Amino acid sequence: MDQYRVLGHPIAHSKSPQIHARFAELTGQALQYERLLVPLDDFAATLERLLAQGVKGCNVTVPFKQEAFARADQVSARVQLAQAANTLSLVDGQVLADNTDGLGLVRDIEVNAGRKLQGLDILLLGAGGAAAGVLGPLLLTGPRRIVVANRTAAKAQALVEQHRRHPSLQQEASGRTELIALALDAHLPAFDVVINATAGSLEGAALPIDARALRPGSLVYDMMYGPPAQPFLRWAGAHGAQTRDGLGMLVEQAAESFFIWRGIRPPAHEVLAQLRAAL
Ligand code: ATR
Repeated sequence: MDQYRVLGHPIAHSKSPQIHARFAELTGQALQYERLLVPLDDFAATLERLLAQGVKGCNVTVPFKQEAFARADQVSARVQLAQAANTLSLVDGQVLADNTDGLGLVRDIEVNAGRKLQGLDILLLGAGGAAAGVLGPLLLTGPRRIVVANRTAAKAQALVEQHRRHPSLQQEASGRTELIALALDAHLPAFDVVINATAGSLEGAALPIDARALRPGSLVYDMMYGPPAQPFLRWAGAHGAQTRDGLGMLVEQAAESFFIWRGIRPPAHEVLAQLRAAL
């Protein structure tokens, strides 16, 4: 059977094996997908071993996404923009890298939550790896404006500059989008969509923004799911926002990986509903 792995540290909590097993079942694909705990200093050697074993593909999660980008023989434009990869195809001894995080986020917002992003005002909170992974695909939906707000404003500025320069984003849709970097504590106007890509909720940090950043009916999205996402989403809900956690993004980014590897689109919506019910 074709072999796939998810590499991370820690990895025990990963739901990817469960999600991909269900995708395989529902699409009639014969494959095996397993977790692999990789020692922090052993990512490169692990990948060489997997290549030698004939493993077909890997998902890569924290903290190895940047190392996966650095090791890849070929990278997609999305990987160049994110400087990180979460989906590796191992083909003829070569590592082909993609990043499906942003695609998964966009699909969860546009298809599952039914909110088309074209022409909207988006606030992206954070400028670390999680934010970098989604900014390119968000720009390609053609919003009116994206503000990247970060505690360390210089990091938001660097991320914005890197995206402004990238040839894959010099297209008509993204060319019309106003892209701005701000400090988290700057005065923010109101937005249609607010996406939390900071690690603040894991640290139990205070809420990052003022409620004036919300419009009635704004969509407030936290890329985390489960308990860490709750304080921010509860606060947003109390201010009249529609709220959504990152479980759909998790399933949709997995579906994009599955499509890259197998050429078949699994019924992500169905798997998301089952996962949500099981939680
Ligand atoms: P990740 O891969 O999860 O994005 P990261 O690259 O370390 O992790 O980035 C963490 C992000 O969360 C950064 O945007 C960070 O802000 P700084 O760039 O100023 O460090 C943000 N972050 C972490 N803790 C935070 C807090 N308590 N309040 C606000 N932002 C926080």
